[in-house]
Amino acid sequence: MNTPRLVLVLALLGGPHALHTGPRDPSIDENMVNGDWFSIAQASSEPKLLWKDSHMMFFVRKIHVSLKTIEFHLYRRIQGMCVPIIMMANKTKKKFQYTLKYAGHNVIFLEEVDPSRFLIFCIHNHWHGKETVVVNLLSRTPPASWDIMQTFKNYCKSHGISPANIINLTRTDRCLHA
Ligand SMILES: *[C@@H]1O[C@H](CO)[C@@H](O)[C@H](O)[C@H]1NC(C)=O
Ligand SMILES: *[C@@H]1O[C@H](CO)[C@@H](O)[C@H](O)[C@H]1NC(C)=O
Repeated sequence: MNTPRLVLVLALLGGPHALHTGPRDPSIDENMVNGDWFSIAQASSEPKLLWKDSHMMFFVRKIHVSLKTIEFHLYRRIQGMCVPIIMMANKTKKKFQYTLKYAGHNVIFLEEVDPSRFLIFCIHNHWHGKETVVVNLLSRTPPASWDIMQTFKNYCKSHGISPANIINLTRTDRCLHA
């Protein structure tokens, strides 16, 4: 059985959560994601969420992990302006899984992490009975190296998101000067 089929079977058995295994390296600790980040790429099962003015388009600048929460300090571009926002997600009983109220209910899964280089997180948004998935790639440096982009593309592929639904944010205004 090849890997995508295995993933699909696991998804059918265990729902979307079964797809999320968290960081592969067992020495990774949640606190290691603290600090400054740059949004590099975003992907979604729903292309509309990748539009410039979409409520799910945001540029992360910092992550702050505390005892019970994980805070995302980010910017959204609203009518051409960079608006700072802090989103506070609650930790859950499961490591690397958080819940957030924003445009409905969200479950955030912290996936691949290399704390000094990049992180990938996946958001399952539930709104008006519809589930959509948004995946984000953050890097410690404003441009990310080729291998990090490749890791992200592979992640999206294995989660059923087509390459056409991935956008390269480094080509857009990420509110770096805000
Ligand atoms: C997060 O925790 C706070 C305080 O316990 C609670 O009021 C809020 O509803 C929780 N939010 C989510 C999305 O679980
Ligand atoms: C993203 O855009 C930047 C700037 O144009 C470019 O250097 C980089 O190669 C692009 N990455 C991918 C994977 O297309």
